[in-house]
Amino acid sequence: MTHLLILGGTTEASALAAACAQRGIAATLSYAGRTARPANQPVPVRIGGFGGVAGLSRYLEQAKVTHLVDATHPFAARMSANAVAAAKDIGVPLVSLTRPEWNEEPGDRWIRVADIAGAVAALNGPARRVMLAVGRMHVDAFATRPQHHYLLRFVDAPETPPALPRHLLVVDRGPFTLAGDRALMEAHGIDLVVAKNAGGSGAVAKIEAARALHLPVLMIDRPVLADRAEFHDVGAVIEWIGHRAERGV
Ligand SMILES: NC(=O)c1ccc[n+]([C@@H]2O[C@H](COP(=O)([O-])OP(=O)(O)OC[C@H]3O[C@@H](n4cnc5c(N)ncnc54)[C@H](OP(=O)(O)O)[C@@H]3O)[C@@H](O)[C@H]2O)c1
Repeated sequence: MTHLLILGGTTEASALAAACAQRGIAATLSYAGRTARPANQPVPVRIGGFGGVAGLSRYLEQAKVTHLVDATHPFAARMSANAVAAAKDIGVPLVSLTRPEWNEEPGDRWIRVADIAGAVAALNGPARRVMLAVGRMHVDAFATRPQHHYLLRFVDAPETPPALPRHLLVVDRGPFTLAGDRALMEAHGIDLVVAKNAGGSGAVAKIEAARALHLPVLMIDRPVLADRAEFHDVGAVIEWIGHRAERGV
């Protein structure tokens, strides 16, 4: 019997879970457990790390997973690498469901950097008012650039305050709009946006707002991930499951 394990934490993973529930495909959605209030889901949910490649391999066997879908965020590089290794170990077919990355459009003023360290290094100049949209876990890396004023936006209020001497924290889980993000940037006098090239529509409002306001964006490129089949839409994953099932894999 088909049993899909969806590695989640993204809107794509939730959309796939909903599609599975609608079609009666057995699926389990896995969260890392970073968010205090994960959205309700129409399929069973498990929460927390598996314990590396060995732990995930064990889980795949014990839960009799027939198909593994890595629908984690494009910057969740460790989980994605573990998924490739465990799928290979156990012989479970794996695909990724991910959003295509953003590309620079007319009006954009991107400065591309390879990673968080590259973004920190690029902020070595005089004080600016920065919208720092890199996710809660990476904010403290910017403590070595204390001259800037940072606008932060987190899904949950953090247990310990960010280690940035000058910051303002907004707690909001979106969805965000161009008009809303533009107003936020104007209200806080933002003159630079730091963002990860997440891609997709859920987080693009800040990029569009920066374009509308002619603001530069320090754009962090995606990490290079292990080779795997990649889909950009839920329908393709559903087809893939059907295809494999027909062939009895
Ligand atoms: N990185 C981002 O920018 C970002 C943005 C939005 C959402 N997210 C979501 O947040 C979660 C964590 O991202 P991350 O960047 O911290 O990942 P990561 O660095 O690649 O993963 C670190 C560890 O967290 C555990 N983990 C990650 N995703 C998991 C999942 N879906 N289910 C169970 N365990 C998971 C794994 O622990 P074990 O080794 O113990 O299995 C993994 O080795 C992911 O679900 C991701 O989709 C990330």
